[in-house]
Amino acid sequence: MSFPEHRPRRLRKNSNIRRMVRETRLSVDNFIYPMFVQDGKGIKKEIPSMPGIYNLSVDTLLIEAEEILKLGIPAIILFGIPEKKDPVGSEGYAKNGIIQKSVRALKENFPEIVVVTDVCLCEYTSHGHCGVVKNNLIENDPTLELLTKMAISHAQAGADIVAPSDMMDGRVEAIRCALDKNGYNDVIIMSYAAKYSSSFYGPFRDAADSTPQFGDRKSYQMDPANALEAIKEVELDIEEGADIVMVKPALGYLDIIYRVKDYFEVPVAAYNVSGEFSMIEAAAKNNWIHRENTIIEALTCIKRAGADLILTYFAKDAARILKQR
Ligand code: PBG
Repeated sequence: MSFPEHRPRRLRKNSNIRRMVRETRLSVDNFIYPMFVQDGKGIKKEIPSMPGIYNLSVDTLLIEAEEILKLGIPAIILFGIPEKKDPVGSEGYAKNGIIQKSVRALKENFPEIVVVTDVCLCEYTSHGHCGVVKNNLIENDPTLELLTKMAISHAQAGADIVAPSDMMDGRVEAIRCALDKNGYNDVIIMSYAAKYSSSFYGPFRDAADSTPQFGDRKSYQMDPANALEAIKEVELDIEEGADIVMVKPALGYLDIIYRVKDYFEVPVAAYNVSGEFSMIEAAAKNNWIHRENTIIEALTCIKRAGADLILTYFAKDAARILKQR
């Protein structure tokens, strides 16, 4: 039995009916807003390839945090731009590193904001790779020790969630063990579990000045052609103790989000990355697309695919748009 008995258009007749049968509801509760911090005072420097996104200092970060809370966004993820970089990324786990200072200030002023920290060496190393380098190779096991130091220092500062994004093997287990041993058994791990080696990270690397100085990240980040491997990566991270698993990027990887959500019983996060953000902003600036509608559509599609949480540079705008609708 089909037409004329079946007329799916009946359920699209007007906006109230559409609202009643809508399957996916985007909410500000789902958003995590990424932010970049550096040393200094009164800094609010726009990132050229990411209009409306800024490098901040701790004082301006606090001003932004207040606005974020007012908009109802529950969480932020912090990326640090250190004063100086070295081959082992020392500033990443220094007691007075930029992230450690930022987390302490945030928690002092706004204890309720959920603070996520990115655990990775690439912003802090002079070579820009996410691990220790020897003979131009990225060494897995020696990197784990540095990542655990970084995670502990973030927890010590008051981070609620640590998010390892380096893609070294075994890092979730190493970080979980180290956190527990140091009394941080309530700190959540959100692992960048299926993180692809993607060209869509371009603008972020401008913002964090973290482009690898030689080679690329293909020996640790995943091949965009692979899907089964994502299941394996996620399975390992959950076994190792990840509480939340992430797929990154989001828009080109909706099938991966769907598979991961279908297969596992943990919250799934998706990272709507810098390149995805900048493409929409650039097209909207040219009046080639409707900015607000495109933002809401893109985020709704990410949620429909199965993401419980969405890391997005659009979080503030989307929160405002959702409030108006
Ligand atoms: C650090 C890290 C990156 C991003 C998040 N954490 C860059 C990279 O892996 O090169 C990208 C985020 C974005 O593009 O918005 N490893």
